[in-house]
Amino acid sequence: MGRTVYYVASSLDGFIATPDHSLDWLLTREVDDDGPMGITPFLAGVGAIVTGSATYEWVRAYQDAWDYTVPTWVLTHRELAPPPGADVRFARGDVRAVHAEMVAVAGERDRWIVGGGEVVGQFADAGLLDEVVIAYAPVTLGAGAPLLPRRLELRLTELARNGEFACARYDVVRPG
Ligand SMILES: NC(=O)c1ccc[n+]([C@@H]2O[C@H](COP(=O)([O-])OP(=O)(O)OC[C@H]3O[C@@H](n4cnc5c(N)ncnc54)[C@H](OP(=O)(O)O)[C@@H]3O)[C@@H](O)[C@H]2O)c1
Repeated sequence: MGRTVYYVASSLDGFIATPDHSLDWLLTREVDDDGPMGITPFLAGVGAIVTGSATYEWVRAYQDAWDYTVPTWVLTHRELAPPPGADVRFARGDVRAVHAEMVAVAGERDRWIVGGGEVVGQFADAGLLDEVVIAYAPVTLGAGAPLLPRRLELRLTELARNGEFACARYDVVRPG
């Protein structure tokens, strides 16, 4: 069975966006999408996506669409319109139900939690987070959206350099 993976880019001080949701500190940097721990090989192994509504709305505005082809769950308490032609499903409440649906759809492929940090925290609270992959940008932001606002024990399994980024892969260590 695939794994539930938080794959994300972060500032060195643990923020994934500025307080006003800007990614200007991230998107201008040198990176090889096909390189070590790059987004292209990662996406090739992904069978389902889940995201919070703020991230979803940011990506939709940035892509002017929803470019991901695998089924996506958006967590929201609001009534949002699905993007034309994309398999986007809306859900709310306990993430365990969403996780079960993602497992059924993704099978052997991984499940990508895009963010934000609190959404990842909900999966971690339920014992459903398997892996964390972080591309650290060479910048500090001082404030912003938190990377993962929980206490979790992790085990480093891989390190790589990709362009300006220091990339690290961790297993989540489950208590006991
Ligand atoms: N650096 C990176 O690689 C990276 C990756 C991901 C995201 N980001 C950025 O980081 C920021 C993350 O922002 P964020 O943490 O505020 O937002 P978020 O996680 O994307 O969205 C949070 C919202 O999702 C909804 N939600 C979360 N859990 C829910 C649940 N269980 N049931 C129903 N609704 C739920 C709620 O909104 P409503 O109910 O009001 O809809 C909540 O306010 C964004 O700017 C994003 O673009 C950066």
